[in-house]
Amino acid sequence: MSQKSKSSKAAKSKPKSAAKAAAKPAKPAAKAGKSAKAAKKVPAESRVFAPSAEFVKSSRIQSLDQYRRMHAQSLKDPEKFFGREAAELQWRKPYRRVLDWKCPDAKWFVGGQLNVSENCLDRHLAGPRRNKAALIWEGEPGEKRVLTYQQLHREVCRFANVLKRHKVKKGDRVVIYMPMVPEAAVAMLACTRIGAMHSVIFGGFSAESIKDRVLDCDAAVIITSDGGYRRGAVVPLKKNVDDALKGGETKVRSVIVLKRTGQEVHMEEGRDVWWHRELEYVDAVCPAVAMDSEAPLFILYTSGSTGKPKGILHTTAGYLLHAQMTCKYVFDLREEDVYWCTADVGWVTGHSYLVYGPLALGATSLMYEGAPNWPENDRFWRIIEDYGVTVFYTAPTAIRAFMKWGDEWLTKHDLSSLRLLGTVGEPINPEAWMWYHRLVGGSRCPIVDTWWQTETGGHMITPIPGAVPTKPGSATLPFFGVDAAVVDDLGKEVGKDEQGKLVIRKPWPSMLRGIWGDKDRYQKTYWSDFKGWYFAGDGARRDKDGYFWIIGRIDDVLNVAGHRLGTAEVESALVSHPAVAESAVVGRPDELKGQGVVCFVTVKEGVKTSKELADELKRHVRKVIGPVATPDEVRFAAALPKTRSGKIMRRLLKQIASGEALKGDTTTLEDVNVVAALAAASAED
Ligand code: PRX
Repeated sequence: MSQKSKSSKAAKSKPKSAAKAAAKPAKPAAKAGKSAKAAKKVPAESRVFAPSAEFVKSSRIQSLDQYRRMHAQSLKDPEKFFGREAAELQWRKPYRRVLDWKCPDAKWFVGGQLNVSENCLDRHLAGPRRNKAALIWEGEPGEKRVLTYQQLHREVCRFANVLKRHKVKKGDRVVIYMPMVPEAAVAMLACTRIGAMHSVIFGGFSAESIKDRVLDCDAAVIITSDGGYRRGAVVPLKKNVDDALKGGETKVRSVIVLKRTGQEVHMEEGRDVWWHRELEYVDAVCPAVAMDSEAPLFILYTSGSTGKPKGILHTTAGYLLHAQMTCKYVFDLREEDVYWCTADVGWVTGHSYLVYGPLALGATSLMYEGAPNWPENDRFWRIIEDYGVTVFYTAPTAIRAFMKWGDEWLTKHDLSSLRLLGTVGEPINPEAWMWYHRLVGGSRCPIVDTWWQTETGGHMITPIPGAVPTKPGSATLPFFGVDAAVVDDLGKEVGKDEQGKLVIRKPWPSMLRGIWGDKDRYQKTYWSDFKGWYFAGDGARRDKDGYFWIIGRIDDVLNVAGHRLGTAEVESALVSHPAVAESAVVGRPDELKGQGVVCFVTVKEGVKTSKELADELKRHVRKVIGPVATPDEVRFAAALPKTRSGKIMRRLLKQIASGEALKGDTTTLEDVNVVAALAAASAED
């Protein structure tokens, strides 16, 4: 396995295995003496990058052997391993047992009590972190704000008192629908301070999506803002909330509105109040409530393979521990780091790696409100340079967009402060990995490609920088406590380089504890394909070094620009349009977004199909679900390909959508002509 890259100046070796790469310090490519021609023949993904000796020197975990020992111990003796890690949290009441596990119900740190906001804020106030930046914020129009731990604590206490004024109690659900402003984090932490659960809804979701979620979790209070900035435009957040509450089906009694963009908004008498006005009535003293380890912490909705989004439930101690631990071991965060996670707080990445993980660890977390290409394509690089960002965590979709925009946008900036890079959300193609490595990381920064999900709460398969050599496109090896495997349909581990289903065979601290209000669905979705094991919905393979290569979803879930989208959700939005009789939605590969959304639609008798109707249907989906779900293409079909039992054959539609030649068995089709007609129509397009 001889390989070299012509382009990378750093860490490349000629290892027999990843283990060897770890043992051997990196050699600069020039010295390795490989010609560019030879390098070209080597696919990017066969290269191995060992962390530089300099990075290793100051790492918490410094070798592959050390990682393997720790990982083995975490599986063999989770009580001891996690018990030791949990000692780093601040407990109100010590726990009696580390784990109670009766599949699918896990209880971690049984009998213990703590408070998340106390762990993220109060405990840092006694020492030098008191005046350290907790949040550094930049608004899209350019405003800058820094909140020290002390200031953030004060804001959280005051806002927690506002929530109390609005009769929010322990266990109540509070919906947060806000732009990326510090107040979003304040609102989340304020909920945790008084034991209320939050459910953050991403600003790209529509009024109808808000309503569905508010109804599902039975929220009594919504926190929002007049608007948010996105690519220079104002997103009308309050208006969306108003529309969601029209009709009076929900039990929402208070809407607390932050003034951000300043445009005129409707304020409903007796229901809507301004955030800044409410602060006038409260003081800054708010003791944190001691919460049971297993007390519900938040609900976060995500797409599944049915039309109804799932309210993923996370609980207190295990979630917080995992978020803190991964920030410590995976991001290797230090006191002096300026850490930037570009994810929105509306996604799980924003929860675990913008708010809870870094703050629990006492780190400095940077938050940016807007788009990466506003006002110009170098906004991210400008921010990195301006603040001296050291650890940067973003999504492959963003990386591919930057590649497309051209290197000159970043080469004019000094990115030398960076020391570690991360990616999340979708498989990263080796070319994008290499670009990230060379251009952003200056060939010196390890890249942690972190595989995980809303359900897992935190990183599951990821390199430990300093210990695990990386391969472009592989999430490498499991995190501590994670017993991951790739299996066939019978649960037997597949062979080397064979594709199978990715399962987790043991409970882990930050695992979801359920789907809000639907115990059966929880059991059925995650724990019934393989008894006692968690099935993630992803396909994967492992190579000869045991490295995991995530292939992507193998269920009916799409991953569009790193955002999960259920095909059934889009289908149900389409059939809610009066012109539509039936629809089938599939993904097709997209160079930038990973996947694009293609909708096959049959219309009702008498409806004429046209480009205008296709555009209207796109707008309709946008309205029903939100801009995140906008279809790339709507194709009309006289009929959809179905089996004799009436099941739509998506496999064939996927092939048609991506312009592939049709392959595989079609004998179960009810009417072969349907597929022929669809394929012929697409050939004419
Ligand atoms: O398919 C996997 C993909 O994103 C899915 C989870 O999406 P969500 O719950 O929205 O969480 C995204 C942020 C954690 C997974 O089932 N995915 C996530 N990270 C990776 C990934 N696919 C490949 N490599 C990754 N690093």
